Amino acid sequence: MKLSVIGTGYVGLVTSACLADVGHEVIGADRDADRIERLRQGRSPIFEPGLEEVLARGAASKRLRFTTDTVEAVRESDVIFITVGTPSLESGNADVTAVAAVAETIAASLTDYRLIVEKSTVPVRTGERIRDQIHLLTRGAVPFDVACNPEFTREGAAVQDFMHPDRIVIGVESERAERLMRDVYRPFDCPILVTNLATAELIKHASNAFLAMKISYINAVANVCERVGADVGLVAQGMGQDARIGRAFLNAGVGYGGSCFPKDVAAFVQIASAAGYEFGLLKEVARINEGQRDVLLRHLTEALWVLANRTIAVLGLAYKPDTDDMRDAPSVPIIERLCRDGAAVRVYDPVAERNARRVLPEVTYCADPYDAARGADAVVLLTEWPEFGRLDLTRLRDVMRRPVLIDGRNVWDPEAARAAGFHYAGMGR
Ligand SMILES: NC(=O)c1ccc[n+]([C@@H]2O[C@H](COP(=O)([O-])OP(=O)(O)OC[C@H]3O[C@@H](n4cnc5c(N)ncnc54)[C@H](O)[C@@H]3O)[C@@H](O)[C@H]2O)c1
Repeated sequence: MKLSVIGTGYVGLVTSACLADVGHEVIGADRDADRIERLRQGRSPIFEPGLEEVLARGAASKRLRFTTDTVEAVRESDVIFITVGTPSLESGNADVTAVAAVAETIAASLTDYRLIVEKSTVPVRTGERIRDQIHLLTRGAVPFDVACNPEFTREGAAVQDFMHPDRIVIGVESERAERLMRDVYRPFDCPILVTNLATAELIKHASNAFLAMKISYINAVANVCERVGADVGLVAQGMGQDARIGRAFLNAGVGYGGSCFPKDVAAFVQIASAAGYEFGLLKEVARINEGQRDVLLRHLTEALWVLANRTIAVLGLAYKPDTDDMRDAPSVPIIERLCRDGAAVRVYDPVAERNARRVLPEVTYCADPYDAARGADAVVLLTEWPEFGRLDLTRLRDVMRRPVLIDGRNVWDPEAARAAGFHYAGMGR
């Protein structure tokens, strides 16, 4: 099939590359000319494991190409995916300006039937609004359908997730749209759930908010564990062995971040409120999440007494491992607080440095964890990159000024850290 994907960010790039890989002809369009130029040269603008290989196969097969010309992309495809960003507004609402702009461009380019698929995470009823606006702009002269196909891939495992989804959700309003969407996803072997537009949109909100809730739940439990001498890791293990609960997303730490959970939880609260329901549970999920930064800073202050004129080494900046994404990463507010309190901060992240330099200009970027720890009064771990779990703790201790380890993701074995001579504090252990 001929497909286009408008917006070649984390979601759009994976979507276009993977859909080309399964045999479709795909045009990826973006208004960012630098990004498109990089892609044309075969270079990925983002770090995502496995993506460069899929992009290379797409280019070699000539089934995948990139353009800045959205009009051309719309004209040359049967199905158009919208994958532009929907960041948070100050109010917590999702900013759908980019989605609305793409809908206008599509309306101006329509000459005959197209299926327009919203894949960006959008407030419920956005699909309806896209449909109504395109209908108004085209004066009902051109047939089209709007579908909702929410994206559930995880950054850091997006290619794998896209190729092997647990399920595909399709919100449609016509049989024709359903048929086309089933054709797009025919090469994938997984259950397909077909719903109306609003239900598909709600499935995305409800799924992300639930996962965020699991994280905040275990963090709240971790805070109780700290007070009563229990170990949250074992609590999570014991809970997770119950098939009704499951172990996933029960890792205590400095909280969730990234481009989805914080903004999607805030947006769901606003959506519910606009619909007349106060979603207090989700407000608490967000509050607990932000509170985890204070928990970590409290552990640090307990160990160091004061932060002014101390040197703090931070290991890990990305909001989670296997990504370079710094959007809403907990490292940013934590490091800003350290700097405000007068600490000097030395940092290391295996891949996020380029993006981090834009949001954290005041820190010293280091070549590796030992370099970051040199002369430091404490090492603070904020992202659970696997390489940090394998560090030589004795070597780390020897380059530091004070042997203090604050483990924001419970990566190290507390006994091993203490045996290596560290003052160790994890989250809820
Ligand atoms: N990042 C994720 O893992 C993830 C997962 C599921 C859902 N989502 C949702 O998918 C959407 C996209 O997220 P993302 O992380 O890929 O965003 P992103 O910011 O990485 O990418 C968005 C891209 O859209 C382009 N764009 C913006 N306006 C445009 C326009 N008018 N015409 C053409 N291109 C335009 C931007 O230049 C950018 O390259 C969001 O709604 C997000 O909530 C993201």
